[in-house]
Amino acid sequence: MQDILEAIMAADGSVDPARELGGVAGLPVPESYRGVVVRAEETRMFDGMATRDKDPRKALHLQEVPTPELGPGEALVAVMASAINYNTVWTSIFEPLSTFRFLQRYGRTSELARRHDLPYHVVGSDAAGVVLRVGAGVSRWRPGDEVVAHCLSVELEDAAGHDDTMLDPQQRIWGFETNFGGLAELAVVKANQLMPKPAHLSWEEAASPGLVNSTAYRQLVSHHGANMKQGDVVLIWGASGGLGGYATQMALNGGAIPVCVVSSPEKAELCRRMGAELVIDRSAEGFRFWSDEQTQDPDEWRRFGERIRELTGGEDPDIVFEHPGRETFGASVYVAKRGGTIVTCASTSGFLHQYDNRYLWMHLKRIVGSHFANYREAWEANRLVALGKIHPTVSRTYALEQTGQAAYEVHRNAHQGKVGVRCLAPEDGLGVRDPELRARHAEAINRFRGR
Ligand SMILES: NC(=O)c1ccc[n+]([C@@H]2O[C@H](COP(=O)([O-])OP(=O)(O)OC[C@H]3O[C@@H](n4cnc5c(N)ncnc54)[C@H](OP(=O)(O)O)[C@@H]3O)[C@@H](O)[C@H]2O)c1
Repeated sequence: MQDILEAIMAADGSVDPARELGGVAGLPVPESYRGVVVRAEETRMFDGMATRDKDPRKALHLQEVPTPELGPGEALVAVMASAINYNTVWTSIFEPLSTFRFLQRYGRTSELARRHDLPYHVVGSDAAGVVLRVGAGVSRWRPGDEVVAHCLSVELEDAAGHDDTMLDPQQRIWGFETNFGGLAELAVVKANQLMPKPAHLSWEEAASPGLVNSTAYRQLVSHHGANMKQGDVVLIWGASGGLGGYATQMALNGGAIPVCVVSSPEKAELCRRMGAELVIDRSAEGFRFWSDEQTQDPDEWRRFGERIRELTGGEDPDIVFEHPGRETFGASVYVAKRGGTIVTCASTSGFLHQYDNRYLWMHLKRIVGSHFANYREAWEANRLVALGKIHPTVSRTYALEQTGQAAYEVHRNAHQGKVGVRCLAPEDGLGVRDPELRARHAEAINRFRGR
């Protein structure tokens, strides 16, 4: 592994590293590597505990695992950096179910897929690194290419996935519903998950947008999601968080008017740094949409709607960018404009939503479900990063050994933007190939750093 790292590091700062790096092709692939895993024998370790008390640090382990055989159409990547996504939090607390169920189900589908069904699950759905090997039939990528990986794994054997890859019946999220994920020194991906690494970013910056940037792109911009247009008022929950930090940037880039909801003055400041002018601090303003576990308070929906109108000069949101779920969904449906869209990709606070349907049907609103992104959407979202039009939101990074702590902070909502993880990269800041483009955007790239 050290030889691989040295070969990658030797290319640091060179003009055309991807081709010079071909040297890694000559290096042997290690028989094993270090990866962050959850263990099948520990899936019941948190039984009976409240969600909040389940501690990812107890369930995530860094251990040596055997390098899997590479199948046709796959690539083996030396991972320089990865990032924490909320799906790793879910995996680590075994909610809403153990991800070993996904691996078992996948393992039953084919001989090749059986490799994934193991008593350990190497997690992680983001990666930036260097291609070490490609499997049979891969011609677009070769050893030495500097890449990022999006997390859509599909088989595409069914006609259903050939219009929109997200509709493939064998659609999975890599590193969550498959094994050999990105929080590791090596990762196995399908070659069509690979995309060029944005040249002006360091490894940890390049690794961090993948999952959330692609998801926000489909959810907000794509015609499969809310199809945002210029002038739309967009209410964004968690606007400085993983998804929200990208949704806010996309709304501003696209000429829309984001109304950012956050829970602290620091997070409000981050939204303003991104360029947002309309910000609601939900904690400071004390919004409580539920009076008890079973009962929502429509007066609070109204108060929230009035606050939005106060900020927008009387307008309601054309789009509500939803993901907190149960706690906010009733309010989201209420405040959306007549004919507006509530687009949802998650239910962090609970997946059984309640809302007053009269506000939906009488005011002709739509609820749209959205999940990750198809190949094209992921590619377009990455292109925006590579062009310097969307910027990473890395606030902090951790060494691979500290992944549990990193996931714990995301679980506790104690983080800002994205939390990066250095896998093979020994320090932050390595891997920048286009310093000129970086210099043009240095302030934006760093606006979440150290927060
Ligand atoms: N379907 C998909 O493809 C997909 C993709 C990515 C993520 N997700 C899911 O989306 C959710 C968010 O992911 P993320 O990466 O954005 O996580 P994140 O970095 O934790 O950000 C979420 C933000 O939502 C806000 N929030 C949390 N609980 C809330 C509540 N009860 N009421 C109002 N706001 C709340 C918080 O912001 P404030 O405290 O500042 O308000 C938090 O920063 C997770 O459940 C994740 O699994 C789904």
